[in-house]
Amino acid sequence: MSGQIIAIDGPSGAGKSTITRLVAERLGLRFLDTGAMYRAVTLHCMRAGVKLDDVRAVASAAATAALRCEPSLKGPMRVFLGAEEVTEKIRTVEVTRNIHYVADVREVRELMVKMQREIGEQGALATEGRDQGTVVFPNASLKVYMFASAEVRAKRRQAELNGRGQQVLLDEVLREINQRDMLDKSREIGGLRKAADAVELDTSEMSPEQAAETIVKLAKSRLAMRTRRIEKENGTA
Ligand code: DC
Repeated sequence: MSGQIIAIDGPSGAGKSTITRLVAERLGLRFLDTGAMYRAVTLHCMRAGVKLDDVRAVASAAATAALRCEPSLKGPMRVFLGAEEVTEKIRTVEVTRNIHYVADVREVRELMVKMQREIGEQGALATEGRDQGTVVFPNASLKVYMFASAEVRAKRRQAELNGRGQQVLLDEVLREINQRDMLDKSREIGGLRKAADAVELDTSEMSPEQAAETIVKLAKSRLAMRTRRIEKENGTA
Protein backbone atom coordinates (compact mmCIF):
# COMPACT_ATOMS: atom_id res chain seq x y z
CA MET A 1 0.00 0.00 0.00
CA SER A 2 1.48 3.33 -0.98
CA GLY A 3 0.91 6.55 0.92
CA GLN A 4 -1.12 7.66 3.85
CA ILE A 5 -4.63 6.21 4.21
CA ILE A 6 -7.17 7.87 6.50
CA ALA A 7 -10.20 5.60 6.93
CA ILE A 8 -13.41 7.12 8.26
CA ASP A 9 -16.41 4.92 9.04
CA GLY A 10 -19.72 5.50 10.72
CA PRO A 11 -23.51 5.54 10.38
CA SER A 12 -25.33 7.64 7.81
CA GLY A 13 -25.85 11.25 8.79
CA ALA A 14 -22.78 11.56 11.00
CA GLY A 15 -21.29 13.97 8.48
CA LYS A 16 -18.74 11.55 7.03
CA SER A 17 -18.81 12.82 3.44
CA THR A 18 -18.53 16.53 4.18
CA ILE A 19 -15.93 16.02 6.88
CA THR A 20 -13.80 13.51 4.95
CA ARG A 21 -13.83 15.85 1.98
CA LEU A 22 -12.58 18.72 4.15
CA VAL A 23 -9.87 16.47 5.63
CA ALA A 24 -8.75 15.42 2.15
CA GLU A 25 -8.61 19.03 0.95
CA ARG A 26 -6.65 20.19 3.98
CA LEU A 27 -4.11 17.37 3.76
CA GLY A 28 -3.87 17.34 -0.04
CA LEU A 29 -5.21 13.77 -0.26
CA ARG A 30 -7.67 12.25 -2.71
CA PHE A 31 -11.20 11.76 -1.38
CA LEU A 32 -12.87 8.37 -1.84
CA ASP A 33 -16.63 8.15 -1.26
CA THR A 34 -17.34 4.41 -1.14
CA GLY A 35 -21.09 4.90 -0.58
CA ALA A 36 -21.17 6.52 -4.03
CA MET A 37 -19.73 3.33 -5.51
CA TYR A 38 -22.50 1.17 -4.00
CA ARG A 39 -25.02 3.78 -5.15
CA ALA A 40 -23.73 3.61 -8.74
CA VAL A 41 -23.89 -0.19 -8.86
CA THR A 42 -27.44 0.01 -7.48
CA LEU A 43 -28.43 2.48 -10.20
CA HIS A 44 -26.91 0.19 -12.83
CA CYS A 45 -28.91 -2.81 -11.52
CA MET A 46 -32.13 -0.77 -11.42
CA ARG A 47 -31.62 0.41 -14.98
CA ALA A 48 -30.83 -3.11 -16.14
CA GLY A 49 -34.22 -4.20 -14.79
CA VAL A 50 -32.63 -6.74 -12.47
CA LYS A 51 -34.88 -8.30 -9.83
CA LEU A 52 -33.15 -6.80 -6.84
CA ASP A 53 -33.92 -9.63 -4.46
CA ASP A 54 -32.26 -12.10 -6.86
CA VAL A 55 -28.75 -12.27 -5.43
CA ARG A 56 -27.26 -14.05 -8.47
CA ALA A 57 -28.77 -11.59 -10.93
CA VAL A 58 -27.48 -8.64 -8.90
CA ALA A 59 -24.01 -10.19 -8.69
CA SER A 60 -23.77 -10.76 -12.44
CA ALA A 61 -25.19 -7.32 -13.29
CA ALA A 62 -22.67 -5.71 -10.92
CA ALA A 63 -19.84 -7.46 -12.74
CA THR A 64 -20.81 -5.67 -15.96
CA ALA A 65 -21.40 -2.23 -14.42
CA ALA A 66 -18.34 -0.52 -16.02
CA LEU A 67 -18.08 1.56 -12.88
CA ARG A 68 -15.34 4.16 -12.74
CA CYS A 69 -14.63 6.69 -10.01
CA GLU A 70 -12.38 9.67 -9.95
CA PRO A 71 -11.31 10.28 -6.37
CA SER A 72 -10.85 14.03 -6.24
CA LEU A 73 -8.44 16.41 -4.52
CA LYS A 74 -11.25 18.96 -4.27
CA GLY A 75 -15.04 18.66 -4.30
CA PRO A 76 -17.18 15.52 -4.54
CA MET A 77 -15.90 12.31 -6.10
CA ARG A 78 -17.08 11.91 -9.68
CA VAL A 79 -18.69 8.57 -10.61
CA PHE A 80 -19.25 7.12 -14.09
CA LEU A 81 -21.13 4.16 -15.54
CA GLY A 82 -19.36 3.61 -18.82
CA ALA A 83 -19.06 7.05 -20.42
CA GLU A 84 -22.01 8.52 -18.52
CA GLU A 85 -21.39 10.62 -15.44
CA VAL A 86 -23.84 9.62 -12.68
CA THR A 87 -22.44 11.69 -9.77
CA GLU A 88 -25.81 13.43 -9.23
CA LYS A 89 -28.11 10.66 -10.49
CA ILE A 90 -27.10 8.28 -7.70
CA ARG A 91 -28.52 10.60 -5.03
CA THR A 92 -32.22 9.78 -5.47
CA VAL A 93 -34.57 8.34 -2.84
CA GLU A 94 -35.12 5.25 -5.04
CA VAL A 95 -31.41 4.46 -5.17
CA THR A 96 -31.07 5.01 -1.40
CA ARG A 97 -34.01 2.71 -0.77
CA ASN A 98 -32.62 -0.07 -2.96
CA ILE A 99 -28.95 0.02 -1.96
CA HIS A 100 -29.20 -2.68 0.70
CA TYR A 101 -30.19 -5.28 -1.94
CA VAL A 102 -26.92 -4.60 -3.72
CA ALA A 103 -24.57 -3.78 -0.84
CA ASP A 104 -25.45 -7.02 0.96
CA VAL A 105 -24.34 -9.25 -1.92
CA ARG A 106 -20.96 -10.83 -1.19
CA GLU A 107 -19.75 -10.71 -4.82
CA VAL A 108 -20.61 -7.02 -5.07
CA ARG A 109 -18.68 -6.25 -1.90
CA GLU A 110 -15.68 -8.26 -3.11
CA LEU A 111 -15.69 -6.27 -6.32
CA MET A 112 -15.94 -2.93 -4.50
CA VAL A 113 -13.27 -3.84 -1.95
CA LYS A 114 -10.91 -4.80 -4.79
CA MET A 115 -11.54 -1.51 -6.60
CA GLN A 116 -11.08 0.47 -3.40
CA ARG A 117 -7.76 -1.23 -2.64
CA GLU A 118 -6.57 -0.57 -6.19
CA ILE A 119 -7.39 3.11 -5.71
CA GLY A 120 -5.48 2.98 -2.41
CA GLU A 121 -2.46 1.47 -4.20
CA GLN A 122 -2.35 4.53 -6.44
CA GLY A 123 -1.53 6.88 -3.56
CA ALA A 124 -2.60 8.69 -0.42
CA LEU A 125 -6.31 8.79 0.35
CA ALA A 126 -8.99 9.93 2.78
CA THR A 127 -11.77 7.39 2.43
CA GLU A 128 -15.18 7.04 4.03
CA GLY A 129 -17.76 4.28 4.32
CA ARG A 130 -18.79 1.47 6.64
CA ASP A 131 -15.93 -1.01 6.29
CA GLN A 132 -12.90 1.06 5.39
CA GLY A 133 -10.96 0.60 8.63
CA THR A 134 -12.19 -2.93 9.33
CA VAL A 135 -12.09 -4.70 5.95
CA VAL A 136 -10.66 -2.60 3.13
CA PHE A 137 -7.69 -0.85 4.74
CA PRO A 138 -6.88 -2.68 7.99
CA ASN A 139 -3.42 -1.05 7.93
CA ALA A 140 -4.69 2.52 7.49
CA SER A 141 -2.48 5.13 9.14
CA LEU A 142 -5.49 6.58 10.93
CA LYS A 143 -8.95 5.10 11.51
CA VAL A 144 -11.83 7.20 12.75
CA TYR A 145 -15.24 5.94 13.82
CA MET A 146 -17.54 8.92 13.45
CA PHE A 147 -20.98 9.13 14.98
CA ALA A 148 -23.62 11.56 16.21
CA SER A 149 -26.82 11.09 18.17
CA ALA A 150 -29.82 9.92 16.13
CA GLU A 151 -31.65 13.17 17.04
CA VAL A 152 -28.84 15.36 15.74
CA ARG A 153 -28.55 13.31 12.56
CA ALA A 154 -32.31 13.51 12.03
CA LYS A 155 -32.24 17.31 12.40
CA ARG A 156 -29.35 17.59 9.93
CA ARG A 157 -31.16 15.36 7.44
CA GLN A 158 -34.40 17.32 7.84
CA ALA A 159 -32.54 20.59 7.19
CA GLU A 160 -30.89 19.05 4.11
CA LEU A 161 -34.26 17.88 2.73
CA ASN A 162 -35.91 21.22 3.50
CA GLY A 163 -33.06 22.89 1.66
CA ARG A 164 -34.00 20.80 -1.37
CA GLY A 165 -37.63 21.90 -1.04
CA GLN A 166 -38.85 18.64 0.55
CA GLN A 167 -40.87 19.26 3.71
CA VAL A 168 -40.63 16.33 6.14
CA LEU A 169 -41.52 15.75 9.80
CA LEU A 170 -38.67 15.29 12.25
CA ASP A 171 -40.31 12.18 13.73
CA GLU A 172 -40.49 10.60 10.32
CA VAL A 173 -36.82 11.28 9.60
CA LEU A 174 -35.83 10.00 13.03
CA ARG A 175 -37.72 6.76 12.48
CA GLU A 176 -35.98 6.26 9.15
CA ILE A 177 -32.56 6.93 10.68
CA ASN A 178 -33.16 4.42 13.46
CA GLN A 179 -34.25 1.84 10.89
CA ARG A 180 -31.16 2.43 8.75
CA ASP A 181 -28.90 2.15 11.82
CA MET A 182 -30.45 -1.22 12.67
CA LEU A 183 -30.02 -2.42 9.09
CA ASP A 184 -26.44 -1.10 8.89
CA LYS A 185 -25.38 -2.80 12.09
CA SER A 186 -27.18 -6.09 11.65
CA ARG A 187 -25.96 -6.79 8.12
CA GLU A 188 -23.99 -10.00 8.05
CA ILE A 189 -21.47 -8.77 5.52
CA GLY A 190 -20.39 -5.17 5.17
CA GLY A 191 -22.15 -4.31 8.41
CA LEU A 192 -21.05 -1.25 10.32
CA ARG A 193 -18.46 -2.06 12.99
CA LYS A 194 -15.89 0.02 14.78
CA ALA A 195 -12.32 -1.15 14.19
CA ALA A 196 -10.61 -1.97 17.50
CA ASP A 197 -7.92 0.64 16.78
CA ALA A 198 -10.24 3.39 15.52
CA VAL A 199 -10.49 6.75 17.26
CA GLU A 200 -14.10 7.55 18.19
CA LEU A 201 -15.36 10.95 17.18
CA ASP A 202 -18.76 12.21 18.30
CA THR A 203 -19.73 15.01 15.90
CA SER A 204 -23.08 15.81 17.62
CA GLU A 205 -21.82 19.13 18.96
CA MET A 206 -19.25 19.85 16.26
CA SER A 207 -19.33 21.82 13.04
CA PRO A 208 -17.88 20.00 10.01
CA GLU A 209 -14.87 22.36 10.21
CA GLN A 210 -14.22 21.47 13.85
CA ALA A 211 -14.52 17.75 13.18
CA ALA A 212 -12.21 18.01 10.15
CA GLU A 213 -9.66 19.99 12.16
CA THR A 214 -9.67 17.32 14.89
CA ILE A 215 -8.95 14.61 12.31
CA VAL A 216 -6.28 16.68 10.56
CA LYS A 217 -4.47 17.15 13.89
CA LEU A 218 -4.69 13.42 14.63
CA ALA A 219 -3.40 12.57 11.14
CA LYS A 220 -0.47 14.98 11.47
CA SER A 221 0.55 13.64 14.84
CA ARG A 222 0.34 10.03 13.54
CA LEU A 223 2.51 11.01 10.59
CA ALA A 224 5.07 12.69 12.86
CA MET A 225 5.15 9.60 15.10
CA ARG A 226 5.70 7.37 12.09
CA THR A 227 8.48 9.57 10.79
CA ARG A 228 10.20 9.55 14.19
CA ARG A 229 9.89 5.77 14.40
CA ILE A 230 11.35 5.28 10.92
CA GLU A 231 14.21 7.68 11.69
CA LYS A 232 14.92 5.80 14.90
CA GLU A 233 14.92 2.47 13.08
CA ASN A 234 17.29 3.86 10.47
CA GLY A 235 19.47 5.50 13.09
CA THR A 236 18.95 8.93 11.54
CA ALA A 237 17.11 10.53 14.48
O1 DC B 1 -22.74 6.87 2.67
P1 DC B 1 -23.94 6.66 1.77
O2 DC B 1 -25.26 7.03 2.40
O3 DC B 1 -23.76 7.26 0.41
O4 DC B 1 -23.98 5.09 1.57
C1 DC B 1 -25.00 4.50 0.88
C2 DC B 1 -25.22 3.07 1.34
O5 DC B 1 -24.15 2.23 0.91
C3 DC B 1 -25.36 2.86 2.83
O6 DC B 1 -26.72 2.64 3.15
C4 DC B 1 -24.58 1.64 3.16
C5 DC B 1 -23.83 1.29 1.91
N1 DC B 1 -22.38 1.29 2.06
C6 DC B 1 -21.78 0.09 2.34
O7 DC B 1 -22.46 -0.92 2.48
N2 DC B 1 -20.42 0.04 2.45
C7 DC B 1 -19.67 1.15 2.30
N3 DC B 1 -18.32 1.07 2.39
C8 DC B 1 -20.28 2.38 2.03
C9 DC B 1 -21.66 2.43 1.91
